[in-house]
Amino acid sequence: MIEFNNVSHYFSSKNGELQVLDNLSFSVPKNGFSAIVGPSGCGKSTVTKLIAGLMKPRKGSIILNGEAVQSPRSNIGMAFQNPVLLEWRNILKNVMLPLEIVHNKLSNEEKVDRARELLALVGLSEYENSRPSELSGGMRQRASLCRSLIHRPEVLILDEPFGALDAFTREDLWLTMNRLREKESFTCLIITHDIRESIFLADEVVVLSGRPATNQFSIKTEKESNDNLDQLYTPHASELLNILREQIGIARRKEMADK
Ligand SMILES: Nc1ncnc2c1ncn2[C@@H]1O[C@H](COP(=O)(O)OP(=O)(O)OP(=O)(O)O)[C@@H](O)[C@H]1O
Ligand SMILES: [Mg+2]
Repeated sequence: MIEFNNVSHYFSSKNGELQVLDNLSFSVPKNGFSAIVGPSGCGKSTVTKLIAGLMKPRKGSIILNGEAVQSPRSNIGMAFQNPVLLEWRNILKNVMLPLEIVHNKLSNEEKVDRARELLALVGLSEYENSRPSELSGGMRQRASLCRSLIHRPEVLILDEPFGALDAFTREDLWLTMNRLREKESFTCLIITHDIRESIFLADEVVVLSGRPATNQFSIKTEKESNDNLDQLYTPHASELLNILREQIGIARRKEMADK
């Protein structure tokens, strides 16, 4: 469903060209959930922008649902670390915003019903009339997740969505994310710095090398269940954590050696 094929990408900088991605390939199957982890600055957000069609890769191709990505797509939903919600709109209207932008045939009543359905799933029904500033950081991120899913995108891209939240709120959001995954259908790629998050949420974790990012390692998480945090404390999870920590160490050492 998401195919990233031998992608290389460069940015121009004042010192010439900066290579950010080097022959990077990975794929996420339909309704699958993959996580990308890697050193800071290695090119992870660049991957998300390429998938969204906001930029074109210098080499290689990106295929979504069998079609090459050439320009921004409406079948994608995105959420970032700091949700930008519009203060002059209440939460319900913030969540409905993409439906005003993305072409659709829904009546206003259907749009409201859809937004309410998502707000209920993330536990925000009571806050539909609140302004963003009246919500906590975790609640704002829940609203942002609803907004990114309102138009039923086939692909959901999350770039460190829970990075600014405290550990307990983050864990709550992981459970919310799994509930959304159960009820909605989308193929998801999450960028994260948090290895536990990658293990808890994803079916496969891809470790990128330091910049220019290339495939360093990937592992399937093979979890039994997704509905409680205890699964992070099983011997299997500890083994995954150790393997991934080791791999990230290798990526960071490579990056330091290159500097
Ligand atoms: N539009 C741009 N123009 C020039 N350089 C850019 C641009 N966007 C990103 N870069 C550079 O490309 C590199 C990769 O950036 P990117 O944001 O993809 O990294 P990242 O892995 O997401 O980092 P972090 O973990 O800190 O979020 C960085 O060195 C960054 O300075
Ligand atoms: Mg980034």
